[in-house]
Amino acid sequence: MPSYDIVGDIAVVKFDKEKKSEKIKFARELLQRPNVKVVVEKADRIKGRLRTAEMNHIAGEKRKDTLYKENGCSFRLNVQTCYFSSRLSEERKKIAEKINKNDRVLVMFAGVAPFSIIIAKFSGCKEVVSVEISKACSKYALENVRINKLDNVRVIQGDVKKKLAGLGTFTKIVMARPNLKETFLKYALDASGKGTIIYYYGFAHVDDKDKMVEKLKKEAYELGRKIRINEVVRAGDIAPYKFRWRVEIKVV
Ligand SMILES: C[S@@+](CC[C@H](N)C(=O)[O-])C[C@H]1O[C@@H](n2cnc3c(N)ncnc32)[C@H](O)[C@@H]1O
Repeated sequence: MPSYDIVGDIAVVKFDKEKKSEKIKFARELLQRPNVKVVVEKADRIKGRLRTAEMNHIAGEKRKDTLYKENGCSFRLNVQTCYFSSRLSEERKKIAEKINKNDRVLVMFAGVAPFSIIIAKFSGCKEVVSVEISKACSKYALENVRINKLDNVRVIQGDVKKKLAGLGTFTKIVMARPNLKETFLKYALDASGKGTIIYYYGFAHVDDKDKMVEKLKKEAYELGRKIRINEVVRAGDIAPYKFRWRVEIKVV
């Protein structure tokens, strides 16, 4: 059976080698569910800096934008132009639980702002700065801040390499990184002071987990910064034996 995710009222299906008629039959079955109004096919892999994939309409209403609800918050997004994973909902909640009222939080690679908004809403923290390079995602991020009625989230559209200067330091930094080679750790360290906690997301085969952590330690050392690794936990599956890891880094 094809695998699928439901985002709002859109079913995003990953077919294997099904014929067109089989795809339509499967899509029509999904449309029987009261919560599904659109079925799209994820036609290729998530790729590039923006982490988007081609989505082809298969059945139902002809649109790719939706309203998705999670952790008591609402998010508008377009499944074609914005990276979004409903599978990260538990992870977002776990991170929000680690933030307290006095924190000043930076969310790098913020997308349509799910981490930023859930953190801001549940912690009631002073400020969340949400940085995302995609114009499409940032437009939705602004709308999402408004529909969730928050006044403690600031959305910045642009490259984390250029947009962090002048923002000062943060007590907590969430690096919801794209699965790319570059670690971007330097930019998080530039926005860190003594005691800052960085939640770094890395992608590695279970056998390469230690190598991934050693690379972070080496990078920090070469930048003249001292870090301590508090914990490394699994935060999602990517492929057989390959996981998304959350590395909790303390800047000391
Ligand atoms: C894995 S997605 C995470 C999205 C979001 N945090 C979420 O949970 O839905 C990574 C995001 O990083 C953005 N991105 C990639 N390179 C960036 C950069 N240099 N500066 C800012 N954002 C970037 C992409 O556009 C994408 O939306």
